[in-house]
Amino acid sequence: MHNPETLISEEEIRLRVDELAARISLDYADKGELVLIGILKGSFIFLADLARRLTIPRHIEFISVASYEHGSIRSGAVRLVMDVRRSIEGRHVLVVEDIVDTGHTLHYLIDMLKTRGAASVRTCTLLHKEHKTEVDVKIDYLGFSIGDEWVVGYGLDYDEKDRTLPYIGVVQPTDY
Ligand code: PRP
Repeated sequence: MHNPETLISEEEIRLRVDELAARISLDYADKGELVLIGILKGSFIFLADLARRLTIPRHIEFISVASYEHGSIRSGAVRLVMDVRRSIEGRHVLVVEDIVDTGHTLHYLIDMLKTRGAASVRTCTLLHKEHKTEVDVKIDYLGFSIGDEWVVGYGLDYDEKDRTLPYIGVVQPTDY
């Protein structure tokens, strides 16, 4: 059993999620029900914690996307695998991600949700690898900026391993 080195502790995550939830609750205080869209699978733990700490009316949806890959190289093209259940037309939407890496996933989703007539589309991500950006996307609510390391835990996996680790840890592919 390996124990990934801690990058962001449970306590640090808890405090940051509290802050994000407070800011989001304030920003949407008079805007009616907020539609939170979690991007599977990575966001499921962050979304669960964030959603429970909001003090505003909220509705939960999920979307699943996949990246086209050529061998182990991601092409940047994204396709929808599972969609939301209800129309988001005229609704205020907050897309919730665990991590923004190249930005392709979020870029695709923001475009798609705006095309569908959302009243507004904002983004919230726990982690952002700034130096890996290939396409610029606006991140409205950010947990932590991190470097270019392999991270696992709190929803993030390495080949489906370590998703449920309670903190964000750093690993090397050779650890598995
Ligand atoms: C991760 C993450 C984002 C995406 C970000 O998902 O959850 O959705 O990659 O990468 P990008 O900014 O380069 O587009 P992943 O494909 O690992 O799937 P998972 O969430 O199901 O583990």
